[in-house]
Amino acid sequence: MTTEPPPSEDRWGAEARSVVASMTDQEKLWCLDGDAPFWAGLTYLGESGYHKSPFRAARVDRLGLPGFAFSDGPRGVVVDQATCFPVSMARGATWDVDLEERIGDAVGRELRAIGADLFGGVCVNILRHPAWGRAQETYGEDPFHVGEMGAALTRGVQHHVMACVKHFACNSMENARFQVDITVDEVSLHEVYLPQFRRIVDEGVAVVMSAYNSVNGEWCGDNHDLLTGVLRDEWGFGGFVISDWIFGIRDAPRSLHAGLDVEMPYRMIRADHLPAALEGGDADWADVDRSVERVVATRKRFDDVLSRDAPDRSVLACPEHRSLAREAAAKSVVLLRNDPVDGQTVLPVEPDRPWTVALIGGLATAVNLGDGGSSDVWAPEVVTVADGVRAALPQAALSVDDGGDIARAADLAASCELALVVVGYTRDDEGEFIGEFASAHLVDLFPGADDPDLVASFEAGIATERLIQPPPHVAGRSQPGGFAEGGDRVSLRLHDHDVALIRAVSAANPRTVVSLVAGSAVVIAEWDGCAPAVIQSWYSGMEGGLGLADVLCGRVDPTGRLPFSVPAREADLPDFDAGATAFVYGADLGYWHLARQGTPAAYPFGFGLSYTSFSLGHATATVAGGEVHVDVTVTNTGGRDGADVVQVYARRLGTDRPARLAGFARVELAHGERAGVRIPVPAAALSERDVGSHAMVVHPGRYELRVAHHAGDPGIVVEVALPAPPA
Ligand code: BGC
Repeated sequence: MTTEPPPSEDRWGAEARSVVASMTDQEKLWCLDGDAPFWAGLTYLGESGYHKSPFRAARVDRLGLPGFAFSDGPRGVVVDQATCFPVSMARGATWDVDLEERIGDAVGRELRAIGADLFGGVCVNILRHPAWGRAQETYGEDPFHVGEMGAALTRGVQHHVMACVKHFACNSMENARFQVDITVDEVSLHEVYLPQFRRIVDEGVAVVMSAYNSVNGEWCGDNHDLLTGVLRDEWGFGGFVISDWIFGIRDAPRSLHAGLDVEMPYRMIRADHLPAALEGGDADWADVDRSVERVVATRKRFDDVLSRDAPDRSVLACPEHRSLAREAAAKSVVLLRNDPVDGQTVLPVEPDRPWTVALIGGLATAVNLGDGGSSDVWAPEVVTVADGVRAALPQAALSVDDGGDIARAADLAASCELALVVVGYTRDDEGEFIGEFASAHLVDLFPGADDPDLVASFEAGIATERLIQPPPHVAGRSQPGGFAEGGDRVSLRLHDHDVALIRAVSAANPRTVVSLVAGSAVVIAEWDGCAPAVIQSWYSGMEGGLGLADVLCGRVDPTGRLPFSVPAREADLPDFDAGATAFVYGADLGYWHLARQGTPAAYPFGFGLSYTSFSLGHATATVAGGEVHVDVTVTNTGGRDGADVVQVYARRLGTDRPARLAGFARVELAHGERAGVRIPVPAAALSERDVGSHAMVVHPGRYELRVAHHAGDPGIVVEVALPAPPA
């Protein structure tokens, strides 16, 4: 189902205008920021309020305006105890847009059940570098792929509530997020960092959240070029824009003029400064009206959806949603290596044999759902890797060792037929940065004391929500329910101890499987080849252990494909500087960067092994009615059922532009089965930025379309000629 198009000069806009005309000045200003008082709001946040109530804004009871109630994501609903899905990067690895839409649908239902109507979890910043602390919250390094996944989530969520896409724009350095200015040229901005936002705006997303960082010299929340020039004037976005939390705008009148509609989440900078600015002529009431109209019109556009009865809280982490989480966890597993030992690949493991299995590494038994920032979901319970393997191999004798003592772990591995080492990262290694921020002057933005009447009504509103309690695994944390410091990764390698553990266990047991837990690429070249089987797994959600075990024992074919390139060396990547105050973003990152450098990836974008094999044949490309599509025959040539992800990489001939992903399809095939697959290549995926007209254009000419299994695969090449548009 496609969401209805956004309003422009439509009936919602007209209705909103008449509502706004009946508002008092004070009511209008009330709609321009969050409804909660700043200091009381912060205190509540510190009491895990974040997990207890949505953030509310723009509610005006006198006029029956509901405003909106925001809850974060992306790995589920963060209020109350809810389904925790695998993180977005894991879901990116599924390349399964239908699954992502179903996840969105489930999230939307849960969001309504907790009393929210705006989901803040469509996070689609491009993974520019794997050290980015919040890498796990997006889907990967390629704008086409990220756009399709984010659009699918948006479609699903908007069956039930409004969705918010974030963080607009160029937000992919975490520690520096409050200080860094990103310089980006027009071509790179529009071809690399923005296409996925545009795709999601075209999908009808209700709300856009601006980013903390600055772009080309202007903070994103105050940035007219981005919020009005690009978003409204060029793309025709008709919803409303909210700021990121607390330091998301720096200058009240400037943000209003720029097109930022609502400052979130509290009464802060605008409440302090806007009345005087309006009085003194530094801000314009016409801009106030326009922003309020956008909020009211967008909410009206969703009236039909939001007037349906909300499900009750029994939908939270219900069996149906948990099984979706398991499906996603299994489909996200990327098999990087699966070498034969004694003539047979190590995986899959025969589930009904009485194996002796050594399960090694602290992460095998850990609850490790992902970062400890705004995306932290309180899953009521979690299936760890150990739980999942135990359930999947009922005849096996499983011995668990935390790997702390490497010699002891190696001895255990030597005594077993199979060893599974689970290593990688946790919320302490990567995630949203909630530590001390370097720019102390930010506290200068804090407002004066709260209005006591407002505090009283806020306290009354959250009184029952205060009773929500964390699940046992959260209550056992060192900071129960609190945020983890997170931040950008300090290295792309595994910890030294993990590397030594892998080496020792692999030496002790030739049938060693390594499962890597991370939010993005890990450089593994230094130990790759020690163990015959390596899996890229993830913060894989509350059913993650079962999902992984489904793949290990062959119940599910490994169909995950890398949503990023894994370099052989960190030096093969573009620069990253976690402490930067100024930084330049160029067009080359990920597999384009590697292609331009002539450096092969250790594991290319789009790569992943299967337990079966697939071949591609008979590809043709057709241009019909301005649309391009590729038809290809896919055959499952191996001995098991599985799914292939067929990818199309496009390049305009006669240019030095690297080939870019322009279409993909996931196709399930029984062993021996052959199917014809049609892959649409949308015009937007072939478009380039024309800096003369400041528009995206598809140039006439010949295009090479490579149908392949990953970015480094020569695949099958077909060509199409695109005619010049009629004069
Ligand atoms: C994050 C956003 C999040 C917001 C609300 C911010 O710190 O950057 O992604 O939506 O908090 O929790």
